[in-house]
Amino acid sequence: MKTQRLTPDDIELAGTLLRVGDLVAIPTETVYGLGANGLATDAMDRIYEAKGRPSDNPLILHIPDQNMVPRLVKSISPLEQRLMDTFWPGPLTITFEKSHLVPERATGGLSRVALRCPDHDLCRKILQVAGVPIAAPSANRSGRPSPTTAEAVLHDMEGRIQAVMDGGPCHIGVESTVVQVEDDRITILRPGGVTKEMLEMVCDHVVYDTALVDASAAPKAPGMKYRHYAPDMPTTVFVGTPEQVAHACIEGMREGASIGLLLSEVTWQLVQAMLEDEQIRSVVPNIYGPTVEAEALANHLYSSLLAFNEDKVDLLYIEGCPSEGLGVAVMNRLEKASSHQVIYLK
Ligand code: TXA
Ligand code: MG
Repeated sequence: MKTQRLTPDDIELAGTLLRVGDLVAIPTETVYGLGANGLATDAMDRIYEAKGRPSDNPLILHIPDQNMVPRLVKSISPLEQRLMDTFWPGPLTITFEKSHLVPERATGGLSRVALRCPDHDLCRKILQVAGVPIAAPSANRSGRPSPTTAEAVLHDMEGRIQAVMDGGPCHIGVESTVVQVEDDRITILRPGGVTKEMLEMVCDHVVYDTALVDASAAPKAPGMKYRHYAPDMPTTVFVGTPEQVAHACIEGMREGASIGLLLSEVTWQLVQAMLEDEQIRSVVPNIYGPTVEAEALANHLYSSLLAFNEDKVDLLYIEGCPSEGLGVAVMNRLEKASSHQVIYLK
């Protein structure tokens, strides 16, 4: 199969391919999704095949607006309605008890279905044309970083899917927040683009799934138990002041090894000032922003991990950010990318 590269002139084509059961990668504000008709079991089977994804890991159904929700779910509570009104379109995925219309394939056999309305005009236009909910996991092969550009999608999916719609780079860079509502309480199953603080604006009781704070607990979102987004080389994340992080990077230099650095500009300046001339040749720097900032790190994270993999660096050091706001989602992904090698410097 030759994968077609579509442009925004091809919205009709993209929507139609999706409706008839083909796989089309689509841009969203978070990461690119690998779309398929979310009411057609055979189309969703092809998602699992193309990704090499474990079959118990449910999919998110993407919809252009709230109109489709009543047909896909058993009921909508007042708090769920408030969440949709406040955060849609946007990076918030809500799980509901599913209706009979939703195939088991979409939910990995669970009774709940995950719904999301992306804040991305081109994406929503494609969803409108498709006229059916579109199941779309991140468009990477299982175990690889989520793609934030059409090129990254093609790297993993060339020849495995019908088409990719090129909508340019994704704006946020980490996946949506997944939540479950029970009575008047919200549980965050996966931290993402909508932060706990934002959810607290509409609800007094917002908690993280225990699996996010206690590694031995089973996560409610099946996908959270897999080892995700890990680059090939040993990766360490440092959190601290620019001086502390710069010193940790220098101490971690190994003779003969090429070192990837994903740092803020301030910290990179400090590192440069400390490096010997011959050491500087073994360093591959990637700067994510002027200072440590969760938004900028989120935006560069997956594309940098992919670039370091291409460069085949031997070791990777990343400057992490405080776990607050969007930083919770970023540090959650970095914990996984580094196999929990996150060091808080004192
Ligand atoms: O931002 C995003 O959410 C992106 C874009 C493409 O929309 N999609 C995405 O999908 O990240 P995926 O499949 O890579 O991750 C979906 C997560 C998984 O952790 C999955 O286990 C969880 O959502 N999930 C899906 N349905 C669920 C359900 N019914 N109950 C609990 N967790 C669910
Ligand atoms: Mg994913």
